[in-house]
Amino acid sequence: MEHIFDNKLNERISNGQLRSLNHFSSPIDFFSNDYLGLSSVKPKSISHKGSTGSRLLSGTSSISLVTEFKLAKFFDCEAALIFNSGYSANLGVYSCIPSRGDTIIYDEYVHASIRDGIRLSFAESLSFKHNDLTDLEKTLKKSKGNCYIAVESLYSMEGDMAPLRGMLNLADKYDAKLIVDEAHAVGVFGENGKGIVHARAIQDRIFIRIVTFGKAYGFHGAAVLSDEKIKQYLVNFSRPFIYTTAPSEDFYHRIQAVVFRKDIYSRQKALHDNLTFFREQESEMLISEPNSPIQVLRGVDLESLQIIAKRCIEKDIFTKLIFSPTVPKGKECLRFCFHSFNTAQEISLLKNILFT
Ligand SMILES: Cc1ncc(COP(=O)(O)O)c(C=O)c1O
Repeated sequence: MEHIFDNKLNERISNGQLRSLNHFSSPIDFFSNDYLGLSSVKPKSISHKGSTGSRLLSGTSSISLVTEFKLAKFFDCEAALIFNSGYSANLGVYSCIPSRGDTIIYDEYVHASIRDGIRLSFAESLSFKHNDLTDLEKTLKKSKGNCYIAVESLYSMEGDMAPLRGMLNLADKYDAKLIVDEAHAVGVFGENGKGIVHARAIQDRIFIRIVTFGKAYGFHGAAVLSDEKIKQYLVNFSRPFIYTTAPSEDFYHRIQAVVFRKDIYSRQKALHDNLTFFREQESEMLISEPNSPIQVLRGVDLESLQIIAKRCIEKDIFTKLIFSPTVPKGKECLRFCFHSFNTAQEISLLKNILFT
C-alpha cells in the first residue's frame, strides 16, 4: 500500500505539482479572495455559545433562523439555507436535487465542489464547452428526465462570466433549470454586493443560487438561495446539511456583519478603480473580464510564466502558477486577485513586472 502513496506523491514531485501547506505572509496581497478587505471586520455582537448539535437537533438557534430570513430578503428570494461551506452547499444541492433518471449538464470549468456533488448524484451528467451556448444547446438535446444546468456566474480560474441570459433562454426552450454558483460574484457585483444574477435582474428565473461567505466577505460558510419548497426538500434530504454539526452562534453574527453593510459600495468602488488602473494597460495575455477581481494571465509559454512568477516573488508579490489538474493541460496560467485595499504603488509594481 505504501508503494501506491509513494508512487503517486513522487509523480507529483517530478511534475513539479506537489501540493503542500505553507504559511505565506506576503506584504503585498494579490492572491487572497478577500476582495473587499472584509476579513478584518469585527462583528458588534458576539456570543460565547458553542455549537450543540446538528441543525435538525439542537443546532437551530434563533440567530440562525433570523440570518437565513435576512439573507433571503437581501438576495431577493423566498428562502435561504445556510451550509458550513460552499463545498458542502454544492455537495448538498447536487447530491440531493437531481434524481435517478435526470440529467445534470455542467460547464466543463465548474468548481470541484460542483463536480463532487455531481459524482454523488444518481443523475446522469454531461459537460458542455466553457460558456459555449451552441454546445450547451447540443448537450441539452441529449438530456433525459428533469434537466439541471450547473454554472458559475464568475469563474475563478478564468475570471470570466457566464452568458446567463442566453443560458436562461435555452433552459426555457428545453425545460431545464439553471443552478448558479455566485461564490466569486457576491460582494463584488450588484447593488450592495447582491451578485451578478441580481445585477442582471434575473433572480426570479434562476432555480437555485449558491452564495458563499469565504471570498469577498472574508469569512467562511455559504447559503443556498431558492424557493421555500426546495429549502424544505434540502432540509429533509440533503445529507451534507443534515449530518453535520451546526455552526456556533458567532458564525451567524459574523455573516450579518459582513453581508449587511453600508460601506459595500465604497469598497466595491475602490476595487473597481484599482481594476481600471490595472487594465489601462492593454494586453492580449489578460483573458479575464476587465471588471473581474480575478485577473488571469495566459497565452505565453510555461517557461515565460515561470519567469514572471519568479520576478513577482522577488518583489514580494506572492503568486502561484496554476497547473493541471486544477486547469486543463496547456491552460496553465498566473492568477492575480485584486482588492479594494491594493495601493496604486502595488499595482504599478505588478504592471511593471507583467508588461515590461
Ligand atoms: C465557484 C466555487 N464554488 C464553491 C467553492 C467552495 O466554497 P468554500 O470555500 O466556501 O467551501 C469555491 C471555492 O473556491 C468556488 O470557487
